[in-house]
Amino acid sequence: MALFKKKEVEKQEIKVDQRLRHIAFIMDGNGRWAKKRGMPREFGHSQGAKVFKRITDYCGEIGINTVTVYAFSTENWKRPKTEVDALMNLFFDYIQEALDVMMKKDVCIRFIGDKTPLSDKMKKMMADVEQGSKNNTRHLNIAINYGGKDEIVHAVNSAIKDGITELSEKDIEDRLYTNNCAMPDLIFRTAGEQRLSNFLLWQSAYSEFYFTDTLWPDLTPEDIDKAVENFYQRQRRYGGL
Ligand code: FPP
Repeated sequence: MALFKKKEVEKQEIKVDQRLRHIAFIMDGNGRWAKKRGMPREFGHSQGAKVFKRITDYCGEIGINTVTVYAFSTENWKRPKTEVDALMNLFFDYIQEALDVMMKKDVCIRFIGDKTPLSDKMKKMMADVEQGSKNNTRHLNIAINYGGKDEIVHAVNSAIKDGITELSEKDIEDRLYTNNCAMPDLIFRTAGEQRLSNFLLWQSAYSEFYFTDTLWPDLTPEDIDKAVENFYQRQRRYGGL
């Protein structure tokens, strides 16, 4: 049996196999979590950033090779400036320390999305982290100013620039921001909504979906265990029998 629970000193730990190489998270519910506590939305995002670190670490511990998180969409610029600024500050702080941390954990980071509107300083820091960690074997993709439609348009334009006049699926896949890792096996969305919201549109063609009402800042490793167990009960047929 490939999925097993390993008895450790006093805790059980789930381990995954090749069927679950990539999990992608839509980290929803930070605002509602803060509102429930009478706090500003920014407080929810800052708690959300702590949970992002805990959950991505946990996914690595149970053997998931690739984690992708939706941190900021191409549409999130419509939010009030104070909220956008608070999110950018959280990303900035994280990126500053990311290379050291990720080298120790053997994780290759990619910031997926259109970096054009980000500050020059942020772009330079992102490039340094990506370059420095590129030979690591596990993957963490952080979607910032990311839109699935935008990504496909970007891939098609890049193929046109390369002189390709009739596109194959591979031509597009080779040019997606996630072209160095497997397609997501499981897309996990918190906070009750059941939609993709322009996330990984191409990559999700055969992904399994898992939804929970739990708000992102309340998510725990036990919720991941539940989703993993649920995933292993599914039969993936990819259009076959
Ligand atoms: C959606 O929930 C969440 C976001 C737009 C931001 C997600 C960002 C984080 C969890 C921080 C990640 C940090 C790093 C360093 C990558 P919402 O706020 O729209 O929730 P609501 O629907 O309850 O209002």
